Amino acid sequence: MNFMEEIWNKAKEEPKRIVLAEGEEERTIQAAEIIMRNSLATVILVGNEARIREKANTLDVNLGNVEIIDPETSEKLDEYAQIFYELRKNKGMTLEKAEKIVRDPIYYATMMVKEGDGDGLVSGAIHTTGDLLRPGLQIVKTAPGVSIVSGFFVMMVPDCEYGENGLLIFADCAVNPNPTAEELANIAISTAETAKTLCNMEPKVAMLSFSTYGSAKHELVDKVRIATEIAHKLRPDLDIDGELQLDAAIEEHVARLKAPGSKVAGKANVLVFPDLQTGNIGYKLVQRFAKADAIGPICQGFAKPINDLSRGCSIEDIVNVVAVTAVQAQNRI
Ligand code: ACO
Repeated sequence: MNFMEEIWNKAKEEPKRIVLAEGEEERTIQAAEIIMRNSLATVILVGNEARIREKANTLDVNLGNVEIIDPETSEKLDEYAQIFYELRKNKGMTLEKAEKIVRDPIYYATMMVKEGDGDGLVSGAIHTTGDLLRPGLQIVKTAPGVSIVSGFFVMMVPDCEYGENGLLIFADCAVNPNPTAEELANIAISTAETAKTLCNMEPKVAMLSFSTYGSAKHELVDKVRIATEIAHKLRPDLDIDGELQLDAAIEEHVARLKAPGSKVAGKANVLVFPDLQTGNIGYKLVQRFAKADAIGPICQGFAKPINDLSRGCSIEDIVNVVAVTAVQAQNRI
């Protein structure tokens, strides 16, 4: 069974309420029908009901039991505005501004998840990553004990002996442009937890660099080395090692030469990149050149799951991201 089949099966075990903030968007409407038909989640579409139903008719989509909530006519609007104002008043928010902001479907949907009126949020088919993540960071914030939200990809590389028969997790490929050493350590820990809970893996986390165990001297290398030390102090129980070059991380014979005795080198199944340039480029290289399936970006670290879509996403992508979000909501990751 492949990774997505397992996620679909888990999602069906305990269906969660997933809010789709771009309810008027055509691929989202089509995905909603598939999600409900397969019992992957209970879908809540946010948007104008008449427009959503008209589009559904045109697309020949049966929305069945899909709930539709229009922020403009919602009886929760005042309550959400008050809560949002309280959350942000020390950042200069006024009640008047809050009342306007929560009418925005993404802010409204984020408030729903914050207040338990939905279990998870998926958006991004027509909005940028920042448009979705900023309200999430302001309203839902990080889970207890987690200091940073980051984004990972589950990579499934065909005919590949690395990781778990070609299954690896790459992070952070989506959120933090230039994490500090401490932030990088926390990204590594979050990703190790994700590997366990979402992928059923025994995580072996490589902190990637262009140096292995001090083979190069540079402040960029220092950041990764310090991050590894911090991660060890925070979670000595996890197998996290660095700094490691990519070949030392995944190839046994290189690991024996460059990082002998490492519990991770040569066996890494979680790759933590030093910054967003390398992470984002890295996953796309593997996706394109190795023809790998790249599932994500999936966010980790939020108190309740929030996930972004690519603006080029397909209907199938939306369905899969909703299934992953539902499983995260079950696990609260
Ligand atoms: N984790 C936790 N909290 C965070 C994080 C984080 N990673 N980043 C920002 N915050 C907090 C801030 O402390 C701030 O809190 P406060 O307002 O309560 O004090 C709040 O979130 C908003 O922070 P800002 O600094 O105002 O937000 P910013 O403008 O930096 O936006 C964002 C954050 C959207 C995540 C930004 O870093 C970003 O755009 N990242 C890159 C996203 C991107 O373009 N990715 C590539 C595309 S995805 C792909 O190709 C797969």
